[in-house]
Amino acid sequence: MNYLVTGAAGFIGSSLSERLLEEGHLVKGLDSFESYYPRHLKESNLKRLACNSGFKFTEGNLSDCNLEDLLEGVQVVYHLAATPGVRSSWGDGFGAYVENNVRATERLLHACQTRCLERFVYASSSSVYGDVKSLPLQEDATPQPFSPYGVTKLAGEHLCNAYHRNFGVPVVSLRFFTVYGPRQRPDMAFCRFIKSAFRGDPVPLYGDGDQTRDFTFIGDIVEGLVRAGQVPEAVGKVLNIGGGSRVSVRRCLQIIQEASGYEINLDLRPVSKGDVRDTLADTTRIHSILGFKPEVSIEDGLKAHVAWMKDHLSLYDSL
Ligand code: NAD
Ligand code: UGA
Repeated sequence: MNYLVTGAAGFIGSSLSERLLEEGHLVKGLDSFESYYPRHLKESNLKRLACNSGFKFTEGNLSDCNLEDLLEGVQVVYHLAATPGVRSSWGDGFGAYVENNVRATERLLHACQTRCLERFVYASSSSVYGDVKSLPLQEDATPQPFSPYGVTKLAGEHLCNAYHRNFGVPVVSLRFFTVYGPRQRPDMAFCRFIKSAFRGDPVPLYGDGDQTRDFTFIGDIVEGLVRAGQVPEAVGKVLNIGGGSRVSVRRCLQIIQEASGYEINLDLRPVSKGDVRDTLADTTRIHSILGFKPEVSIEDGLKAHVAWMKDHLSLYDSL
């Protein structure tokens, strides 16, 4: 099979591309090396991919690149490119979110509308739900995003739905719940906490640490993505993909301290605007449609993340 992965130099895109190549597929990767975090981390994500003759990388921006060339021969599109991150989507930051998460998504869908694609998988987000009190979060709940980032990810989902219903683009949206593990973005909590454990630098803890997330290990996300690209019944669906448990940030700090053998130096800060208090995915739908169940517990996943960071600490020297 021939795949296009947008955002292929990113955390999730590079991990997915490696898995597709391991299965013997051909992968075209697109990435514009957005400045949201440093380029050298994304180049490092691409290192193993670059050695594989089945991988063809294009540096380019979805907003203006030649999509006809890129989509030539492609059967499945994984659309992961975006400006991610909840906390920097306010004010001056918002323009990049609109451009990369909304306009670029529409441009890609428009180019796909006349193609004979087998699947278009959109990376959606738990942030579309907002600050909801009743858990677990079910796909049919009315989305009420709590951050500008969440608004743009929901807009992307709506665009996918519009192109599916009007033009038959075979779209599936996966709502990822806070993803962690090797290569996690440097703005995200676990990457910052683990770096702080090894380096001793203070790291912000927003709020009281009792906020909870349904943290999802990268290997489980990749498995869900692969299945979403294959199972015909997924077309037209929105599916939650979570890690299977709800864990507080405070508990995760303890696990990281145990796994690394070091104390984390916390700098206590107020709750960050846009951060929701709790998330937990209802995974009934993804289980029934894709037969998917998360495999990696938070304890095992964090051990793997800590071990990986220990081996790659020099990448984070300048951060
Ligand atoms: P990431 O920043 O590591 O990867 C995204 C990549 O997309 C980056 O390398 C960036 O350079 C590229 N990109 C952005 N705009 C582009 C454009 N216009 N043209 C070409 N490339 C562009 O982020 P990630 O954590 O791997 O997230 C991947 C996707 O998953 C995003 O859509 C994000 O919204 C979604 N998501 C992530 C999480 C998470 O916990 N990491 C949770 C929910 C949803
Ligand atoms: C994550 C991703 O960053 C988003 O791209 C994604 O869309 C979202 O998950 C999702 O599930 O949809 P978030 O849950 O904020 O967003 O993930 P983290 O950055 O790992 O933060 C988790 C918690 O730790 C939050 O409560 C945050 O406030 C806290 N945190 C984060 C800190 O206390 N200190 C930090 O330095 C960073």
